[in-house]
Amino acid sequence: MSSIIIVGTQWGDEGKGKIVDLFTERIDAVVRFQGGNNAGHTLVVNGEKTILHLIPSGILSSQVTCIIGNGVVVDLEVLIEEIRGLKQRGYLQDDAQLVISPQAHLIMPYHKELDLLREQRKGKNKIGTTGRGIGPAYEDKMARKGFRFCDLEDEKTFKEKLSALIIRRNERFVKLFETKPFQVDDIFHSTLQKYSQVKKYMRNTSILVNQLISDGKNVLFEGAQGTSLDVDHGTYPFVTSSNTVAGGALTGVGIGPTLIDGVVGISKAYTTRVGMGPFPTELFDADGERLQKQGHEVGSTTGRVRRCGWLDLVVLKHAVRVNGLTGLILTKLDVLSGFGAIKLCTHYQVNNEKIHDLPCNLEALNQCKPIYEEMPGWNEDISQVKTLKSLPKTLHNYIRRIEAFLGISIILLSVGPERGQDILIKDPFKS
Ligand code: GDP
Ligand code: IMO
Ligand code: MG
Repeated sequence: MSSIIIVGTQWGDEGKGKIVDLFTERIDAVVRFQGGNNAGHTLVVNGEKTILHLIPSGILSSQVTCIIGNGVVVDLEVLIEEIRGLKQRGYLQDDAQLVISPQAHLIMPYHKELDLLREQRKGKNKIGTTGRGIGPAYEDKMARKGFRFCDLEDEKTFKEKLSALIIRRNERFVKLFETKPFQVDDIFHSTLQKYSQVKKYMRNTSILVNQLISDGKNVLFEGAQGTSLDVDHGTYPFVTSSNTVAGGALTGVGIGPTLIDGVVGISKAYTTRVGMGPFPTELFDADGERLQKQGHEVGSTTGRVRRCGWLDLVVLKHAVRVNGLTGLILTKLDVLSGFGAIKLCTHYQVNNEKIHDLPCNLEALNQCKPIYEEMPGWNEDISQVKTLKSLPKTLHNYIRRIEAFLGISIILLSVGPERGQDILIKDPFKS
């Protein structure tokens, strides 16, 4: 059977949650491998909306095991609340459906506060983070100062390390931000109390996932954020603090590259971005406003209005390469209905020079002007279309042009937020 990684190819919110949920009828397990509750993955089933921040998007299907790998950073409060909400709505009735790596790092209260205070201080130079403590938690992980679930087992050592860390943090915090000092005892007790509620989900996820694959199960790895938010391959420093690309699935779970059968990228039929940072095809005109309104482009996590623009093939070409994509899924095609003309950015221009690849330098990227190809649009409402041949000819031309430019097949088209509003062209789980 197959192990498939699904990643966002843009700046997040491509519709990963919807697509993962759609595949749940063919898969045995869904694994999150990076990020934290900065993610907001939306699933709509029978008109009922679920937004997941930490728990993998397979959770609405009771036969699917949902796994949170070591690469994820976990806010215990958010995890507990998400579990409670799901259980209350009749999901996650069997605790064996959820598995969490004891090696996943925790987002501690001081991480959240530091994230918010830093952003405040930066003013107009801020990153526009989700304020969930993601960056500071990954910083501590890399600096070897983080706490994992398994580090809570030995309470004495946890207390000693926490006390030493908080004494140092308080010195800096109080001085720099004039805030109240953190209390070791409060954090110690509340962390352990919360841990006791989720301890039952802990299990070595590297062993489990390797076993599932060798047992011939279908496993889907669910990326969070998108390629242009990757800490190495994105629009640094306006990125998140993890590897969002396919490679992150290997380190974030503990599997080898030889076990992966395919990597599927998800792209909106246009582009959006939340937070600050470069966005070459961003629109500030009526078309941009229309994309925002028709696409209901409001952040699933923070409620911020998303910036909107035309599809950027330079960004997608980069995503095809750094992820080694074997297939592409286009979402939100229904949103493009009614635009007389649709534009595709094929390259950038700086002065008289043509730029074909995403510059890694921020200043260079900021100077890039998008150069577009214009294609005729379509007026039909396509949100109920079930077959490829019922789609307008101009839409066929749009997707053919994207495939030809990127040299990759589009394997699924999404035409609405609901489970079932999609047209499958090639099933990635069938070879
Ligand atoms: P994710 O973070 O990649 O899972 O994406 P989000 O859930 O943050 O944002 C995608 C938004 O678009 C959600 O509100 C989805 O319900 C919605 N959505 C997903 N696919 C489609 C589609 O094909 N058409 C429309 N109109 N909405 C979609
Ligand atoms: P999903 O999984 C869109 C953005 C933030 C900010 C930058 C850094 O739903 O696609 P962070 O809080 O991670 O330090 O913020 O990354 N960002 C996202 N944008 N979708 C997401 O997740 C995002 N997660 C983080 O807006 O620009
Ligand atoms: Mg999202």
